[in-house]
Amino acid sequence: MTSTFTIAIDGPAGAGKGTLARRLADHYRLNLLDTGLTYRAVAHALIQHALPLDNVSAAETAARQVDLAKLDRAVLSAHAVGEAASKVAVYPTVRRILVEKQRDFAKTPPGAVLDGRDIGTVVCPDADIKLYVTASAEVRAQRRLAEIESIGGTANFNEILADIMRRDERDMGRADSPLKPAADAHLLDTSEMAIEAAFLAAMAIIDDVLAKRNKA
Ligand code: C5P
Repeated sequence: MTSTFTIAIDGPAGAGKGTLARRLADHYRLNLLDTGLTYRAVAHALIQHALPLDNVSAAETAARQVDLAKLDRAVLSAHAVGEAASKVAVYPTVRRILVEKQRDFAKTPPGAVLDGRDIGTVVCPDADIKLYVTASAEVRAQRRLAEIESIGGTANFNEILADIMRRDERDMGRADSPLKPAADAHLLDTSEMAIEAAFLAAMAIIDDVLAKRNKA
């Protein structure tokens, strides 16, 4: 039996996995890592230095310099950074450097909730719990639009939808570590489910595993 507990959460952009990960980390008192921020940090470093996103050796250097304790969500959450992140995320050498850091994080007691695209398949294939959180592209676009409008911004639904579909295609279609559910992942479709319901569903799955483990 492992001394740490790992919850792997994967899914496409905007499905609600970030919020779910935070709720679960709080509830089970686990560390939390949004692995998307690590790819965003690499993209952001290249943008800052006005380097092209296909400069693989610069991306590798930036990946080595990523410090998980210093990921600045406020800076990295910009839409353009997410778009750029999905471009640097196709490079296997960049992924290998970041995955190693993510695995070290997961191994730190008492364990962690990690969310991303390849957590259950590549980063933590032996995770205690694997969740694949998804929602239709239309619902995800609608949520993003509502989010933008809630802070006084304006955006066009069709452009957001096209953006989301392009990002899905890039993340699901890449050769190295494409986004897909692990064979043993529990699927949570949040298209018609509020985040609270998704949290309760995830808790039921996790509590069941914990109960079986305690009996063993
Ligand atoms: O989740 P987030 O939108 O912050 O991720 C930004 C991009 O980073 C994703 O579109 C994806 O290309 C990449 N990523 C990845 N593997 C992860 C997490 C994110 O390839 N584990």
